[in-house]
Order: sequence, then structure tokens, then C-alpha cells
Amino acid sequence: MLRTARFMDDRAHIPVLLEETLAALAPTPGQTALDCTAGLGGHAAAIAQQIGPTGRIALCDADPGNLEHAAARIAALTDAPAVTGIQGNFADAPRRLAELDLSADVVLADLGFSSPQMADPQRGLSFSREGPLDMRFDPSSPVTAAELVNTLTEQELADLIYELGEERDSRRIARKLIEAREAGPIETTTQLAEIVRSGARPQQSRGRDRGRRIHPATRTFQALRIAVNDELGSLAALLEAVKRTASASLEKSWLRPGARVGVISFHSLEDRPVKRVFGELAQRGLAQLVTRKPITPTEAEVQANPRSRSAKLRVIELTPRA
Ligand SMILES: C[S@@+](CC[C@H](N)C(=O)[O-])C[C@H]1O[C@@H](n2cnc3c(N)ncnc32)[C@H](O)[C@@H]1O
Repeated sequence: MLRTARFMDDRAHIPVLLEETLAALAPTPGQTALDCTAGLGGHAAAIAQQIGPTGRIALCDADPGNLEHAAARIAALTDAPAVTGIQGNFADAPRRLAELDLSADVVLADLGFSSPQMADPQRGLSFSREGPLDMRFDPSSPVTAAELVNTLTEQELADLIYELGEERDSRRIARKLIEAREAGPIETTTQLAEIVRSGARPQQSRGRDRGRRIHPATRTFQALRIAVNDELGSLAALLEAVKRTASASLEKSWLRPGARVGVISFHSLEDRPVKRVFGELAQRGLAQLVTRKPITPTEAEVQANPRSRSAKLRVIELTPRA
């Protein structure tokens, strides 16, 4: 963990939709910000510069190495705001912020993984780098991808790969996994990628860059990563906390009246619940949509940072209650 934190270069992860995020969240001097997914601190550093020395930034990340790196990066800024570190799942960030007696004016969740996590073979996130089938953002969380792949039933694997990977060949892939398990446990990323390849047809992306050829294991790896890190459950819990707070007339809570909340998502499974909850709050008059339509990267950003290609930013501003 320290190894990753110490030797990580800030440029190893380019923050997505940075200017657009700053413009939509509009942090001002003296405010309190919560970055639910601090990562390497790219967005957080930009927000920190806007809120300045009279403000505070709470940094949350499941990955202790990333959190340590982001906190050090903010602390090294000239005129840095106060920094509070929250290691763990952002699903718990609202409760932990309230326990610290902090209320956020600005909240950001930039979902998924950071580039150095994907590039580190030991994290097991990449099908092209040989490594253990781990995939956990938080190394203390209980379930690894290897445990799922080696213990779920064929039906459970097919459902998981279909639902979280939106993979049409999920049944064929699940069958291949069960067959492979008969020879012994599936232990490495490249072993898994090869088994999936034997069960899946050649694939193309279906998103903004429709038609681009992708590795046959892309969707299966996505499904396992989402399951291992309970990514959709965590997002649902965060959105539920925003909804609860927006609906209640609390004297004090983890969100200040008029707070802005932004989410950057990378696929439709993430964007759909954000769109639904933000839309529902706007319809009930509990929030305003700062972004009427999701903000997507320019062609220039996609060229410079291909990882940004499927990003969507949505931001709301809570309506202050009487
Ligand atoms: C896309 S990166 C964030 C990058 C960051 N915005 C930056 O500019 O450097 C996502 C980060 O969120 C963390 N993460 C993902 N899901 C999480 C969750 N449910 N709770 C806490 N951290 C999470 C990952 O460990 C990763 O460091």
C-alpha cells in the first residue's frame, strides 16, 4: 500500500471533466468539500485550491494507498485547506462526516478505479497484466474476484456476468468457467481472460464509441470488479443518503442547505440511478438540476485521455428548506 502511495506520480491519473466539474460544483473560499473518491487527488486538489486555507476538504477512498497519496498532495498545496481523511466505502461517508460534525457544501463522486490501480498487476484489475484475481479497492474487504469465480454456481456466475457486465455471452462464459474449475482453481487474471475468451464471441463497445473492438474479457472483468467492490450498492447508499437529507428539514446534517452534489459515472449501470434520483429530487422541488443534460468530455479530452470517453457528469443543488 505504501509502495503505491510513495511512488505514484500525480500525472498517472488524469482527472476526468476537471474544468466542467469545477464549474458545475462551483466551490468557493471557506467551504467544506467531500471528495467521496479521492483517488490521486486530481479533482480534490483543484477543489482545494478554490476553497483555500479557510475551507476544509474531506477525502474518502476505499484504497488506503490512494487516500494517503491524495491527502499528501493536498497538504503540499500553498494555502491548502484543512484535510480530513476517511478511509473506507463512501457509502459510510455521510455518517462519518456527521460523526466528525462536518457539513459539506460540495460533494463529488468520480466513480470506478484510478489508472494506477488498473496498471498495478497485483490489484488484479487488468486482463492484460498477469496477477492474482483480487480486484478489491479496499484490501481489507472480505471477498476477492478469485473467491467469486471459484465458488459461485454456474447460474450465479451467468447472472452476475449478465447483470453487472451486460455481457450477452454470459451463459457460455459461465459454462467455460465451471469446466475450467474442474481442473483446479482459477487464480490469475490472464488465466481468467483466456477462459472467457474461449466462451465469448469477438466484441465491440456499445457506448459513445460504438463499434470499437474490445477484448472479449472486458465485460466479465467489469462485472467481477463491480461485484467485488459492491460498486452499485455503494452508489445506491450514497444517493439514498442525499435523498434522505434533501427530503428532511434537519437542523444539522452532513450536507449543508444548498449543497451541490456531483457524480461522474462511466457506464449506464452507474448513470441510470444517478439520473433517476437527481430527477426525482428535482421533480419534488428538493433540488435543482445544475446539469440539465449530463456533461460529457470534448473530443480533445477523449483524445488526450481515452479513459474519459464514457464519462458523464451530473450535478444537483439541494433546495434550502425553510
Ligand atoms: C476514478 S478514481 C478517482 C480519481 C480522482 N477523482 C482523481 O482526480 O485523482 C476512483 C477512486 O475511487 C475509489 N473508490 C471506488 N469506489 C469506492 C467506494 N465505494 N468507496 C470509496 N472509494 C471508492 C477508488 O479506490 C479510486 O481511488
